[in-house]
Amino acid sequence: MTPAAAVDLTVQIGALRLRNPILAASGTFGYGLEFAHLVDLNRLGGFVTKGLSREPMKGAPAPRLCETPSGMLNAVGLQNVGVRAFVVEKLPLLRAFDTAVVANVFGYAVEDYAEVIRVLEDADGVAAYELNISCPNVKKGGMQFGADPGMVSDVVGAARKAAARRPLWVKLSPLVTDIGLIARAAEGVGADALTVANTYPAMAVDFRTRKSRLGSLTGGLSGPAIKPITLRLVWETRKAVRIPIIGLGGVETVKDVLDYLAVGASAVQVGTASFADPRVSEELAEGLARLLFEAKTFTMNEIRDKFLAENG
Ligand SMILES: Cc1cc2nc3c(=O)[nH]c(=O)nc-3n(C[C@H](O)[C@H](O)[C@H](O)COP(=O)(O)O)c2cc1C
Repeated sequence: MTPAAAVDLTVQIGALRLRNPILAASGTFGYGLEFAHLVDLNRLGGFVTKGLSREPMKGAPAPRLCETPSGMLNAVGLQNVGVRAFVVEKLPLLRAFDTAVVANVFGYAVEDYAEVIRVLEDADGVAAYELNISCPNVKKGGMQFGADPGMVSDVVGAARKAAARRPLWVKLSPLVTDIGLIARAAEGVGADALTVANTYPAMAVDFRTRKSRLGSLTGGLSGPAIKPITLRLVWETRKAVRIPIIGLGGVETVKDVLDYLAVGASAVQVGTASFADPRVSEELAEGLARLLFEAKTFTMNEIRDKFLAENG
């Protein structure tokens, strides 16, 4: 029997059961369809779509990506086809796959988020919503939704009302003084799970030209460079809330996955690593199955208990 057939990698994220704890992260896996010829989508725990907005968005000027030591900067500017085109053009094709499609939702006002969810509520084939709250609230002078517990309550509360049919995940911004406070605000108004976390605002310049290496001047840092910082945020969030956490930041190896699970995540997402190897999420799920099989443990809970028992 193959390891994949012998072990049970399923994890429960609130009401949603995932085949395994590995999902591809928003913005790094398109609408899933672009990867379907390279990756067996049916072997992933799921994937999170590119951020979806009320109207289509053209995105930021080039260059949009640049490599940095142990990481990458991006300023894509949330380019997307808009939620209606997603429902009409992408979702019907995605329904052919047996994988959890998590729709990443963003906006610049509370009503934007609620409207995107309302459009998705009428469509089949979405497993859950993930709110990206690292966006500026234009009605509050451009302050990030995710930076203030009051604004988090407002936007998550409105999304909760709109999302009658499906689980609601909230993807936290890492740029906060006390992530526990923000996490509790989201949990308090009905979030089903938290994704921790988004990218870190950052910059790269060429000193010779004194120009930024990104068209948008600043961008978001991702990749292995951020893993220790985000790992701490997951740990802090775990202490603050009871709902499931999905860890996200710099996952490349099975060890990275286990590190996130060890500090309290129930699943992980994989972003930047897909740029080097688009099959990495599928390979991580296979690697995890092999690890469990070799350790003679057959479920995700058992492996966690085993590590805890071995290390007191
Ligand atoms: C090119 C690129 C585009 C991204 N676009 C989105 C997005 O549309 N919405 C979102 O919530 N996060 C977006 N992210 C953030 C990732 O989902 C993830 O939070 C971040 O990259 C950290 O994980 P990693 O270190 O595994 O890449 C994007 C990241 C990258 C690199």
